[in-house]
Amino acid sequence: MIYLGQSILRISYHLAIIFALGVLLTACKRGNTNSSILETTASSSQTKPEEYKPVPPKKKKPAFSESQQQKGESILKQYAESAKAINGKKLFTIHCVSCHGADGNLAIEGKILTKTKYQRPQIITQMYYGKGLMSSFKGVVSEEEMVAIAAYVISLRK
Ligand code: HEC
Repeated sequence: MIYLGQSILRISYHLAIIFALGVLLTACKRGNTNSSILETTASSSQTKPEEYKPVPPKKKKPAFSESQQQKGESILKQYAESAKAINGKKLFTIHCVSCHGADGNLAIEGKILTKTKYQRPQIITQMYYGKGLMSSFKGVVSEEEMVAIAAYVISLRK
């Protein structure tokens, strides 16, 4: 019995060494900058779950600052009525279709206009300030026209 126990101990001892070597090798292959792999290995072999610290999820930064969002809202407020006389579809065809597709259903940088949750103020803000690869439309179309385009973008979703 004692002999059996000893050999089991020995086998698991060897297995632990092989496992540790394997993990070390993988860690080296990934480059020694990633020292966290080694740290995790050390704690996992000691099985101390209370030392495990989950990485907090990154907080998603809002697309626009408070004042930028307010700008979109104030433009909408100012022109909500008068913009109804403007042909948003026509302007959309001229200025937006090249990147967003005829019905706004082309995926660009993972964004599809028919699927975004952006409401009219945010769409206006997006046009006013631009973002990423999309340049600002300030001065290209008037603020009133932005309101009309935004209304058309919303209509594409239904
Ligand atoms: C040069 C190509 C281009 C043109 C022209 C363009 N866009 Fe964009 N648009 C983009 C890109 C790229 C993004 C993604 C930006 C990002 O979040 O990195 C985008 C994002 C958007 C978004 C935000 C979608 C989301 O969920 O984040 C809206 C709204 C939008 N565009 C509306 C318009 C409107 C309206 C027009 C026409 C006035 C227009 N775009 C013209 C390239 C373009």
